[in-house]
Amino acid sequence: MKTTLKQELEKAYQGGYAIPAFNFDNYEIARGIINAAEQEKSPVILMVTESAAKFMGIDYVYTIGKYMVESTTVPVVLHWDHGFDIELVKAACANGFTSVMLDASKESMEDNIRMTQEVVACAKKYGVDVESEIGHVGGKEDDRDSKGNGYTTVAEAKEFEDATKIDALAIAVGTAHGVYKTEPKLQFELIKDIKANTTTPLVLHGSSGVPLDDLQAAIKLGITKINIGTDLKLAYANALKEWFNQNEGAFDARKFGTFAIEAVKAEAIKKIKAFGSSNKAK
Ligand code: 13P
Repeated sequence: MKTTLKQELEKAYQGGYAIPAFNFDNYEIARGIINAAEQEKSPVILMVTESAAKFMGIDYVYTIGKYMVESTTVPVVLHWDHGFDIELVKAACANGFTSVMLDASKESMEDNIRMTQEVVACAKKYGVDVESEIGHVGGKEDDRDSKGNGYTTVAEAKEFEDATKIDALAIAVGTAHGVYKTEPKLQFELIKDIKANTTTPLVLHGSSGVPLDDLQAAIKLGITKINIGTDLKLAYANALKEWFNQNEGAFDARKFGTFAIEAVKAEAIKKIKAFGSSNKAK
């Protein structure tokens, strides 16, 4: 069932939980995410990054996204994640995505604002909600590897939301994309300060590998969308390794695919439960 980012974030904030936002790179990961949301009766954000969409085929992504949204009774936000190419972000708006993220976080504040305003103007014509990032969450995201450039400041967050009127604000508060080499240190005071001085729902990127207790503490301070990519990829890849270790000569894609879907579903359920979104599909 189609829903909007704005509506789900508002409900999450009022209800004191966060919406899990999961990346998918293929059918099995998408299926595992939706199966988890259905079992937990949780709203969910199904996200695809630009390079994942290119890998699968952009038209295929439009089609599978629409199918995943329309074939389930749980509320699903279909989200274009980390859009670097503005034309592809706009195309997602025109092709059934319910929200889009522009990632111009490595640009100057001025350019980030200008590019975000351009996306907002286009997205609004389609009734599509917009997320954008201020400060830069580093690490390995999509095909890009980058260093974070420190934390988002309260002043930056405020200036950015005032200038862009976006629906969700991604902030850099101690996480990074990909697999952590050392344990991430979430900046709880900073999350609290940004929340106290802004009104836009806050998004945490790079949340795989962050202890669930820390994510729960961040939710209490006002984070309402939590992005998870790597942990589902790991669940998927580890399931395939296990299957081939245990079934020498296996070749039936439906059998190992089903096993991998179950592993992705189990991992997604852990997050859904921790974020408090179970039974919030209304
Ligand atoms: P992880 O892959 O580190 O979970 O980050 C995902 C993300 O933030 C997608 O936008």
